[in-house]
Parts: sequence; structure tokens; C-alpha cells
Amino acid sequence: MCIDRNKLNGLLASESEHFIQANPTSKAFFERAGKTLPRGVPMPWMSEWASPFPLFIEHARGAHVRDVDGHDYVDFCLGDTGALFGHSPEPVAAAIADQASRGYSYMLPTEDAIRVGEALQQRFKLPYWQFAMTATDANRFAIKLARAVTGRSLIAVFDGGYHGSLDETLVHLHDGRMQPLATNIGPGVDPQLTTRVVDFNDLEGLEAVLKNEDIACLLCEPVLTNNGLVFPEPGFHSAVRELTEQYGTLLVVDETHTICAGPGGATEVLSLAPDLITIGKPLSGGIPSAVYGFSEAVGDRVNHWLANQESFVTGIGGTLSGNALSMRAMRTCLEQVMTEQNYQSMTTNAARLVKAVQTIIDEFKLPWGIARFGARIEYRFHPGIPRNAREATAHHDAELEKLFRLFFLNRGIMLTIFYNVALVAPDTTARDIDRHGEVFREFVERLVG
Ligand SMILES: Cc1ncc(COP(=O)(O)O)c(C=O)c1O
Repeated sequence: MCIDRNKLNGLLASESEHFIQANPTSKAFFERAGKTLPRGVPMPWMSEWASPFPLFIEHARGAHVRDVDGHDYVDFCLGDTGALFGHSPEPVAAAIADQASRGYSYMLPTEDAIRVGEALQQRFKLPYWQFAMTATDANRFAIKLARAVTGRSLIAVFDGGYHGSLDETLVHLHDGRMQPLATNIGPGVDPQLTTRVVDFNDLEGLEAVLKNEDIACLLCEPVLTNNGLVFPEPGFHSAVRELTEQYGTLLVVDETHTICAGPGGATEVLSLAPDLITIGKPLSGGIPSAVYGFSEAVGDRVNHWLANQESFVTGIGGTLSGNALSMRAMRTCLEQVMTEQNYQSMTTNAARLVKAVQTIIDEFKLPWGIARFGARIEYRFHPGIPRNAREATAHHDAELEKLFRLFFLNRGIMLTIFYNVALVAPDTTARDIDRHGEVFREFVERLVG
């Protein structure tokens, strides 16, 4: 089915105009912010919304956000996973309020750190855990441990995965060859010196990279989430585990987004057995913190190695890593928010959303699809089931996708910022999901009706 581009562009223009008229306070804030903040935002990604300027937020609670012009949104962006468990989850907000008068940062541990270590060990089946402030840093430290343990410097990643602002990982495959990501600002070294990149679901390609026995670790998202949802084919992960073991490469699973799958992430759902796991973003309910866990074998090496260091300047850790405030928030989030019951609600409502969208796709005979992994949903404006990132991105239609997100935003539904994704929180209600369905129907009717 061909989309009428004139109609699409006309809608894009009228939706942009509507947004500008409806958001005078955000517009004024944006203009003022531009005098001190590059592109009017505190962090470049925030300028990537489909709207002519970003909304400025006044308040957020559960699965709803209110902007400075007083509009309420059902939030399916959830801070791009930072607020996967809702904004200011009640138990975490109470714990933070309590900790607020006890100090935040001591350079000494609290009992909360032990409780967090125990909870992570129980969920992810890895014995040892350490802390960072961001998923990027957790990945950086995991890579450094893998290099130290194996004595190898190269790492491998899957094409289309994203692991944070690490130069080593900002690469992609182009015509079968690795290229640095052209948009990466100021990389320190040529990634040819640090990295190999392989297509997801390509076991032959992976073996070709691993068999030189010079790869310290394979750092992977177990299901690709950052370039569309790409699922592992049957047997893929067990073969990845066998190959990495065979060639002495440590397997690092980055659960930062796939924690949407369940309390034990994709590791539990897909029965994975990695050497290391990294997770960031929502673990403390949305305040900065991240973790990296490792196996007994890695832990023994790390303990020995740390015990024999003459200086604390090990190149891992940081002053605020493991601070008391984030430990308190993380303990509370793990024990009281990331519960089976809350995941049940998230996945039930996510499935309800998928069903509503699929019904409309079928009714209008659209060549589109919708996929789900736990509480994460991806709208596909093509009929295929991608095996790798190349296939997932081949059908991107930037204008259509921009219109889609803007259309929803103008009707009180906030989808994720850059990709075609919706995230469902424990507080997202069936009513929120039904409102989403109504807007999806209106979008389709306006576009192709
Ligand atoms: C899978 C994955 N890992 C790591 C990161 C990096 O997270 P942060 O930017 O919070 O460091 C991201 C960010 O989107 C991610 O998607």
C-alpha cells in the first residue's frame, strides 16, 4: 500500500503548527534555554523529539506527565526506560525522602548495598556485583574487567546494538565492513584497534571473529532493542554461549533495555548464562545508577587482582558510584517495585495494546506489524520480521515515523523519543491503553482513510 506523500506532508505541517500553537510556555522556555544550552536542551538527545521544540515538563507521576502548558500525557516513553517502572514510584519516593535527611554520599557502604547485592545475585544468578552511575559506565567497567581477565584488548558487538557513549561500541556494519559511527563526536582511537562487529543471528560471522582467540568479550543486547526489536533465532544464544566458551571470550549481556522482559530480564526469560551482566537506567526508579555483575571465575580474578593493586586508581569505579542515596533507591526498587506482580501488570497491558493495534492493522489491511518483548512494544511500518539490524532499519520512513509520534503527542500520548517504541509501566491503566488505541485508529483514518 502506497502512502500519499502529499497527504503525509500536509499532516506533518498541520500537526507541527498545532503543536506550536498549543505549547506557548514550552516555546518561550525553549527560546530562553537556547541562550545558554546548545539546541535549548541540557543533553543533545532531548532535541530529537518529533515536535518543533521539546516540551518542558512540570510534573510526572506513575505513567502520566504534565507539561508547563498544563497538558496531561499518557507516558509511553518513560524516560527512554529510565522511568520504566513509572515516575516517582511510591516506595522509591518514600525511601528517597527518608534517605534525604541521612546523607547521600559517604564513601562508605550501607546495609542497603548488601541487600542490593543479594537481590541481584538471586535474580541474575551471578555472585558478584559492583556499581556505576550510568549503563555506559557499567559497560565500560565490564569491558575493562574482561580485558584484564583475558589479557586481550579487542571486543565484539552486534551490529545495531547500543551500549552507551563508548567509542569502542559506536560502530556499525556497512556492506559487511565495520565503520565507525559517523555521528560519534571526537572518538579517541580508530575502532579497528578495539572492536569487531557482527550481524545479530549470524553464527558463522561470530565464529569468524572469535576464532582468532583475541576477543576479550562479546558485549550484547540479548534481544536488539535500539534499532527495532530483533529477536534471537531458536538456538542462537546457546550457540553464542558455546562459541564464546570455545574461544575464551567472556559473554557480557547488557540488560539495560531488556529488563523490560521480567524481574530477571532476558537472562531469565531466555535462560542465558553470561559471564557478566550490565544494567542501568531504571534500577533505582529513575535516579542515576547502574550495576555490573560477574561470575565466580571473573570474581576470583578480580578479587586477587584488586588485593594486589598498589593504588586505588584501578580505572574502574567513581566517587559517586554506590552512593547511599542510589543504594537506598535501588534496594527499594528491586524489593518493592520490580515485583512479579508489577511485571504482570506491565506485560498484560502491553499485550492489550498490541492486540488493539493489530486489530486496526488487520481492519485497514495495512502492510505494518507490531512486536512486543515484555513491556516493550515496537510499531513496524513494514510487514517483515527482521533477523538483524540491517533488515530492521531497511524500511525506515523518517517522515511517516515523525508524523506518527507528533500526531500522538498532540493528542496526549507520549511515545518514545527516537524510535517507534512504546513502554508500559506498572501504573499504565487499561484506560490509558484504550486511549492509545483510539489515537492509533484516528491516525490511520487520517492517513489512509
Ligand atoms: C542497551 C543499552 N545499554 C546501555 C545504554 C546506555 O545508557 P546510558 O545512556 O544511561 O549510559 C543504553 C542507552 O540507551 C542502552 O540502550
